[in-house]
Amino acid sequence: MYDLIVKNGTILNYNQDPVVADIAISKGKIDKIGSNLGEAKNQLDASGLTIIPGLIDSQVHFREPGLTHKEDLSSGSKAAVLGGICTFFEMPNTKPATITLEKIEEKIKLAKEKSHANFAFYIGASEDNLEELLKIESLDGCCGVKIFLGSSTGDLLLYKREILLDIFKNISVPIAVHSESEVRLNERINIRDNATSVHDHYLWRDAQSALESTKMIIEVAKEAGRKVHVLHISTKEEMDFLKDQKEHCTVEVTPQHLTLFAPDAYDSMGTLAQMNPPIRTKDHQEGLWQGLHNGTVDVIGSDHAPHTLQEKRVDYPNSPSGMPGVQTTLPLLLHHLEKGRIDLNKIIELMAINPAKIFSLNKGKIEEGFDGDLTILDLNENWLISNDAQASKAGWTPFYGMNIKGKPKATIVSGEIAMLNDTVFKPKGKTVKLYR
Ligand code: DOR
Repeated sequence: MYDLIVKNGTILNYNQDPVVADIAISKGKIDKIGSNLGEAKNQLDASGLTIIPGLIDSQVHFREPGLTHKEDLSSGSKAAVLGGICTFFEMPNTKPATITLEKIEEKIKLAKEKSHANFAFYIGASEDNLEELLKIESLDGCCGVKIFLGSSTGDLLLYKREILLDIFKNISVPIAVHSESEVRLNERINIRDNATSVHDHYLWRDAQSALESTKMIIEVAKEAGRKVHVLHISTKEEMDFLKDQKEHCTVEVTPQHLTLFAPDAYDSMGTLAQMNPPIRTKDHQEGLWQGLHNGTVDVIGSDHAPHTLQEKRVDYPNSPSGMPGVQTTLPLLLHHLEKGRIDLNKIIELMAINPAKIFSLNKGKIEEGFDGDLTILDLNENWLISNDAQASKAGWTPFYGMNIKGKPKATIVSGEIAMLNDTVFKPKGKTVKLYR
């Protein structure tokens, strides 16, 4: 007897024609796909619904430990499964920062109890923790190393070239970077200090700050003979540059940078639109869309960065950077799908196939033997994004009031129904296994 059969849904795999079939899952893995599969302990009727490989959000900030008034692993993972996300990778800028094996193991232990979605954590690099980084190389539940090349939320920062090179030469797991030049940010700090409004945020953290840092880190990757995963690219210049550097990098963009632009976002939302790297002008956004379609972009990550409305609504520059997003990433992509800017195949590529490849996971395809993670959608349902429906402790979304066609209806996490029709069930998320 199978654990779960999802019946009669339209299965859509990357670069394949849709097929209507049943999916049987046992012990967390897809066991059989076909019809008349037999008995199961649990059944889900997916008639009229579209089933895509379980989506992976490879960049979230869930704030536990230390800042759990903003988010914790329970609320963050609840938001994830409500948004059709089966797996998340969480960042190390918690309090204290996650920079040792011990701290990663603590997070894994907590997530095993509390997480509704499958999970892995990044370990942060500091100037002197190479020994700790080496300890996590084969640890299931650690997806890689995160480096803040420019300062953002929290106290993680590392931009000394010789230390970066040492890490790049000695570490084989994925290395993900927040790429803004700390030196240039400091040289121009007077722009921030004399700012009269949040519009000065993207003048201070300008396109050149991002480009200089990205060029530097690609040089380091080249010299070390390995790749770097460059997070949340925000400028057209970086996209143009990275297009010819694909041997040395993988590239992420966020739905925020693909959807919001300056000055309009700052005019209408003020400090709620503040994030690092910043929301920039429309020409940059167009460069990101081009990069997405010409193969430069590998993944979409939410950079879910929850802060409470109270914290966000203080005057710039004392307002924190970041917006929630794990629950709205897929809905926003469905909005862009309706507008003809992206198709479902590309969404599967950027949020299932490619993250699975980059991080060596047994995920990304609805095929026998793959992990039993499914994102189930009603592509025809019209609904409204609201603040009230957000499970994040932040309790708001920059996208409230948007009309969306297409809704995550069910999220299957390792063969368990984690979310069905906006109801979230008992946490059963598992550590992500790495196939390195
Ligand atoms: O805007 C941001 N917020 N960018 C980051 O890199 C960090 C994030 C956060 O953790 O708040």
